[in-house]
Order: sequence, then C-alpha cells, then structure tokens
Amino acid sequence: MMFQRKLFYVLALVVASLHVAVAGDPDILTDYVVPSNIVNLTSDLFTFTGMRVIINAPPPPAFKVLKASMAEFPGLNGQSVSYAILQYPTGSVNPPHTHPRASELLFLLMGTLEVGFVDTTNKLYTQTLKQADMFVFPKGLVHYQYNPDPKNPALALSAFGSASAGTVSIPNQVFNTSIDDNILAKSFNTDIATIQKIKLGLRC
Ligand SMILES: *[C@@H]1O[C@H](CO)[C@@H](O)[C@H](O)[C@H]1NC(C)=O
Ligand SMILES: *[C@@H]1O[C@H](CO)[C@@H](O)[C@H](O)[C@H]1NC(C)=O
Repeated sequence: MMFQRKLFYVLALVVASLHVAVAGDPDILTDYVVPSNIVNLTSDLFTFTGMRVIINAPPPPAFKVLKASMAEFPGLNGQSVSYAILQYPTGSVNPPHTHPRASELLFLLMGTLEVGFVDTTNKLYTQTLKQADMFVFPKGLVHYQYNPDPKNPALALSAFGSASAGTVSIPNQVFNTSIDDNILAKSFNTDIATIQKIKLGLRC
C-alpha cells in the first residue's frame, strides 16, 4: 500500500514534469487578453506597426534584432506566437544564445547565413542557408547565426512559439555578470587573467 502510494506520487511528478516539458505558453480562458490600461478596445490591440522602421533604413552597423514579442506588442499575450526581424551586416554574428520558452523558425529573406545549434548530447548541427531557406532551432537549445558574406547583408524573420520566448545570451550571462572569476576560471579550466580578459571585452 505504502509502495503503491509512493509509486503514484512518482508517476504524478513525472506526468507533471512531462506536461511542463511539452507545454507552450499557458492557455488563456478568454479569446484574448486586454491590458488593464486599455479603455476602448479596438483592432489597434491586434496591430503592430513597429517594424515599419526597417523600410528604406540604412543597414545597421552591427547585428540588430527588432522584436515583436508581448512586451512590444501586448495583443500577443496568450497567443503563444511572436516575431523578430534579424539584420546581419557583412561578417556579423548573433552570438550563441537560447530561448528558454520557445522553438524558433527562421526564414532567411535576404543574403546568406551560417546557422547552428547544439543538442543536449553536445552534437553540433550546422547549415549554410540561402535566400528563402528556413531553419528551426529547437526549444531551449544553444544556437547562433553568422553572415559570412564579405559584401552583402543578410535579413531574416524569426517566428517563436511563445509570446515571450526570452533570450539567454551565453557570452553575456556567463562573462558579463558578477559570477566570481575563480569559479569561471575553474569552470573553463583556465586562469583568472584569461577570464578577466574575456570579461573586459564584453563591457562596452
Ligand atoms: C471610448 O469610447 C467612448 C464611446 O465611443 C468615448 O465616448 C470615449 O471618449 C472613449 N474613451 C477614450 C479614452 O478614448
Ligand atoms: C555587458 O553589461 C553591460 C552592463 O549591464 C551592458 O551595458 C553591456 O551592453 C553588456 N555587454 C554585452 C556585450 O551585452
């Protein structure tokens, strides 16, 4: 009896964690979510015009992301989708990062991109994308993009399976926070001077 009860609890925990692992954003019990500061609900809540800035704009000097997630576009709350426009000048990189709450479907609109992700077995998958190609970065895995073209910029549109995918930048979160130098030196099997040199490069 005792054993069965324990088994039941273990199974309940496994089912609960599986649910977390497969779930997207939480389901809402209404058609949409109206922010409390909106008095008159109109189609404006469901419209985002923030990407118009890219029309005829000069290419950015460095890699640039324009997000249309719940923070910029409140109408996405509860809808489990969002977009980002990614602009890559020649030779620029979107450094290794993860999105803890969503998989990412990248659509290359212009140029060439070298992309890659690493799975939980530490296996690297890479691809060179040409214009109109798509690539999916599985949820939560470390990935990057790089424009190797010496002449042409690249432009991509990424869709996310969450209204708030979140971004964890590996260089920034590891070397641009106050994690102790000694802990990082031990973790990367190197010396403190090397860690400090890397940290210095990120403090812009
Ligand atoms: C909301 O709509 C009503 C009726 O159309 C109007 O009288 C009121 O001024 C509007 N309020 C705001 C804050 O726009
Ligand atoms: C490192 O952190 C500082 C302070 O938070 C920030 O201004 C800077 O942009 C960060 N560097 C990078 C490469 O993200």
